Amino acid sequence: KKTSSSSQNSRGKFSGRIGYVMAVAGSAVGLGNIWRFPYLAAKYGGGIFLLVYLILVVTLGYALIVSETALGRMTKKSPVGAFHVFGKTLPFHLGGWFTAIIPMLICPYYCVIGGWVLKYLFDYALGNAPLLAQDGTFSAFLSSSGSVELWFILFSVLVFAVILGGVNKGVERVSKIMMPILIVLAIIVAIYSVTRPGALEGVKYFLIPNFDNFSLMTVVSAMGQMFYSLSIAMGILITYGSYIEKDVDIEKSTSQVEFFDTGVALLAGLMIIPAVFAFSGGDMSTLQAGPSLTFITLPKVFSSMGIGTFVGVVFFLMFLFAALTSAISLLETSVSTLGDELHWSRKKSCVFMAVVMIILGTCSCLGFGVWDSIRIFGMQFLDFFDFLTNSVMMPISALATCFLVVKVVGLKKIDEEIEISSQFKRKKIYHFIIKYVAPICITIILLSSVANVLG
Ligand code: PHE
Repeated sequence: KKTSSSSQNSRGKFSGRIGYVMAVAGSAVGLGNIWRFPYLAAKYGGGIFLLVYLILVVTLGYALIVSETALGRMTKKSPVGAFHVFGKTLPFHLGGWFTAIIPMLICPYYCVIGGWVLKYLFDYALGNAPLLAQDGTFSAFLSSSGSVELWFILFSVLVFAVILGGVNKGVERVSKIMMPILIVLAIIVAIYSVTRPGALEGVKYFLIPNFDNFSLMTVVSAMGQMFYSLSIAMGILITYGSYIEKDVDIEKSTSQVEFFDTGVALLAGLMIIPAVFAFSGGDMSTLQAGPSLTFITLPKVFSSMGIGTFVGVVFFLMFLFAALTSAISLLETSVSTLGDELHWSRKKSCVFMAVVMIILGTCSCLGFGVWDSIRIFGMQFLDFFDFLTNSVMMPISALATCFLVVKVVGLKKIDEEIEISSQFKRKKIYHFIIKYVAPICITIILLSSVANVLG
């Protein structure tokens, strides 16, 4: 007999594995793949970064996604609630909230980058393709402060409109059409990029590991990127896991999400890194461009294709949708946590998040312009928020998840949860990773990244 509480009955549900995989992939594929992955790969060693990243995805990433999804399905709760199910003491309380705060810190600067995408889309639509391909255009835009702020606000308004209007379903439907177009377009542009004269050096740099380029930052940044790109360690997967039925094969869906997300990142790398070699002769300063890399390099590729305006408009439109769906999932998680835990109305939670966004987002916008001289541990605001969340907070949250799973819930329960729907094929390796590899590696990386910044 069903005696579950009404809150359980009213929880949303995914239609099945495919629906679930699409939703998680929608959250996973975003700026992280097209904007963040290529610049980190370019900056931190090319092929060696890629290798470390791939290893982390199939080991640590896999174990953490499986754990989070199982926790969510078991508890039918979002992160704060899920932590609470297993313990009511302060550490559990803090653990849950710590995880829940991460998306609230990411969302503002995510929308700042979303604003850059929006601005480029508009410029392409206005026929400014040649201007965008010129050196210095992007840095002039970044340092303008006011204009960056304006586009940030415009993008944020779009995100809030969707969250408040509840047209979430519509967005899901649209993104099901947009995503395949994005992938096809990315394949075309990647093929074009890698076949430019001089691009081969870049392909080699990106795909062939060179151990001379290895540094501690390679591992630190690859791990942060893995958390970010797969939406791990911030409660999103716990929440999504709580929406699936017991018959969804958790292992299979995890592999599919990883395949999809990593595929898009690889394509983005192939579009951008070889192009740096073709168009700037492998100029190290361009490779090191950091957050601006995608915005400097893509316009050059597009304009050399001869149909820059058309490709630019279509590409940035798809890019915008990928960013929007991810931003929506970031804001939605934040809003629903506030609603669930503090019993705030949706409107109140939105107002609170709007204030947080304006304050933190503005810092990130102005950090490239009028506040350029302000540095936190040597970083501009945007880089700082990015570092704080990806390299410090997410590892801590991932450690808390490992601890919860191994010491409190017990691996037996996780195994049982997964075995409801299918055989647990990678059980042994999963246990080994979550018990030993993950906590040890994450701790070492966390300590070294903090030491790196403080030192
Ligand atoms: N994974 C998203 C990306 O790669 C970012 C994101 C993180 C979105 C967490 C939602 C939640 O862009």
